[in-house]
Amino acid sequence: MPFHTIKLNDGTEIPEIFFGTWKVPKQVCTSEVDQAVDIGFDGIDTAQVYGNEEEVGNAIKQLGLPRKDLYITTKWSGVDGKGAKQSCEESLEKMGISYIDLYLIHHPRLSGNDIPGSWKEMEALQKEGKVKSIGVSNFNIVQLGEILATCTIKPVVNQILLHPYVIATTTPLLEYMKTQNIVPEGYSTLIPLTSRPGGPVDEPVNAIAKRLGAKPEQILLAWSKAKGAIIVTTSSKKQRLEGYLDVGDIDLTDEDVAAIDKAGTEGQLFAQRSKLAVKIGRFMLGAGLTGYILYRFFC
Ligand SMILES: NC(=O)c1ccc[n+]([C@@H]2O[C@H](COP(=O)([O-])OP(=O)(O)OC[C@H]3O[C@@H](n4cnc5c(N)ncnc54)[C@H](OP(=O)(O)O)[C@@H]3O)[C@@H](O)[C@H]2O)c1
Repeated sequence: MPFHTIKLNDGTEIPEIFFGTWKVPKQVCTSEVDQAVDIGFDGIDTAQVYGNEEEVGNAIKQLGLPRKDLYITTKWSGVDGKGAKQSCEESLEKMGISYIDLYLIHHPRLSGNDIPGSWKEMEALQKEGKVKSIGVSNFNIVQLGEILATCTIKPVVNQILLHPYVIATTTPLLEYMKTQNIVPEGYSTLIPLTSRPGGPVDEPVNAIAKRLGAKPEQILLAWSKAKGAIIVTTSSKKQRLEGYLDVGDIDLTDEDVAAIDKAGTEGQLFAQRSKLAVKIGRFMLGAGLTGYILYRFFC
């Protein structure tokens, strides 16, 4: 079954997979968004801080599609200390569109000590019709709770880091969001391939890929889908993007997901222990050096 849409808690529909534009250089951003949409992506994810909203807007213009055929997410990132309202208006202007489908608070730290206050600004933007849906990114359970305690409109999504090497610590957040009907959007799911190749997750991912005749990146994205997440990913390559869309037809078994989770948890524990060992090592070295200096000074 190919990718469809998911119904959000405000009644709107969102694509199940997005093409992301973080780190996509300005010079190629318009053509890469064009390429992704030509292949079949209709969800585009950008942010004020990515600095390429104008180029995303150029692609929207060039494609010439009815506005309703694209789903545009951007984020208030607090660039130059600008607030949500000003940032949203500038994003609309840069992209040359009259509304944003989904507007996110990029990070809880943007709200300082006043998460409910920032959320009120987001609610106002939705009531004014500048944005259709509002959500957050990188929020933990406590921070989501602060919004839910006072909001009149619930966040529809929380866009979070989601890959096997963080699943042990992220599972409680996913479970909490499920109880609140807030959909996870998972980013950087391909980290086991892009920045941690050779880790314990490779073994189950490669074995599943071999069994299903799929690519490892497809298995990782299928794992994110199995976690109930909307996939936010990217590629500069046409063939890879086509492969990402085929993930709509890849359903992992519960055993597959459990094997990837187990390997991810092992990898996470190993990384945590290694970090601790480095810290202890540095401390011992520092203490040893201090002891030696004191010894030389006084003795
Ligand atoms: N809200 C937030 O704070 C936040 C943070 C980070 C990201 N995001 C969003 O999420 C999107 C995706 O983030 P991401 O780039 O970190 O995601 P990702 O999906 O983990 O990685 C995408 C990258 O993986 C590479 N890749 C794919 N298959 C590979 C393979 N088999 N071996 C090696 N590399 C492979 C692709 O390179 P090629 O181009 O060479 O194919 C591409 O650059 C961003 O564009 C952004 O929209 C949001």
